[in-house]
Amino acid sequence: MKYPLLAAALLIAGCAAVLPKAKQHFDLEAHRGGRGLAPENTLAAFSKAIDLGVNTLELDIGLTADGVVVISHDTTLNPDHTRDANGAWLAPQSGATVRSLTLAQIQGYDVGRLNPASNYGKQFALQIPQDGERIPTLAALFDHVRARGAAAATVRFNIETKIDPAKPDETAAPEPMVRALLAEIDKAQMGGRVTVQSFDWRTLALVGQLAPQLPRAYLSSARTLKDSRWTAGLDSTNFTSTPQLVKAASGKSAGPVIWSPAYNDLTPAAIKEAQGLGFKVLPWTVNQRADMLRLMDWGVDGIITDYPDVLRDLMRERGLSLPPPGKAAS
Ligand code: G3P
Ligand code: CA
Repeated sequence: MKYPLLAAALLIAGCAAVLPKAKQHFDLEAHRGGRGLAPENTLAAFSKAIDLGVNTLELDIGLTADGVVVISHDTTLNPDHTRDANGAWLAPQSGATVRSLTLAQIQGYDVGRLNPASNYGKQFALQIPQDGERIPTLAALFDHVRARGAAAATVRFNIETKIDPAKPDETAAPEPMVRALLAEIDKAQMGGRVTVQSFDWRTLALVGQLAPQLPRAYLSSARTLKDSRWTAGLDSTNFTSTPQLVKAASGKSAGPVIWSPAYNDLTPAAIKEAQGLGFKVLPWTVNQRADMLRLMDWGVDGIITDYPDVLRDLMRERGLSLPPPGKAAS
């Protein structure tokens, strides 16, 4: 044969053409546990997301007065979905800060239902209430996931430190928050399954120093990029793009770096640039099917959504690899 190597190459290519294509990994993240379906940031929501089958549970944390890491998006108790021990909705603007309450005090509140009178509550008509749900500790979530055994053995956690550098009195400072978070991760031996995310990039710099192997996700929005208090002192106007800003902020890191922008800020060029710099791109919070499809076409590495069921269906339609459901379909 004149060109045996070429023939062999063609044979291999021919075989590859008939073999099924390797399924691409795409990160399906349930935002606040999937608040479109269940009360946000509760064990009920995380459990439902595991039943459905997601790659990652997205969640937010704060620190209580007695130093416990709890799962809460808001730095103050939120009247839109919080009732007191008598079952009464908190009055508007009345919520105490998480930081000022002990764990025992916080767990006196019920966060298992949306206040139907609030504009926020009206946004999530499909959410199934679960009265009696409490603001959980991060340790309780880790225990819950471990207790689910094989059903949740591969589920990951994308944990956001909720710190507002413009309101330093409202939360713990970055260092105590990060140290408390890392201690919980360590205690539960969940280091291999956690990403730490934040809009406050000071906390990501600390994670880079204290636990450099952990993946870090740089959250951005038009608002935070305008104010260098959020970007660890970097002035975004000195950079040609947000991926370049993330590169400067993340430095030479051991662990993976993710850029997690508001989805409306993304363009195909920005995705390409970020991925070219070695970052994964993970937009939030994408709830409309058409937006999910567009972002998938543009090549994002995953999507954070309140409706993991919708994204899962789209992933199935596209032949993407699906995270295993925790509960067998009946
Ligand atoms: O993961 C990012 C996303 O959760 C940021 O938005 O306000 O819901 O925490 P927020
Ligand atoms: Ca979040």
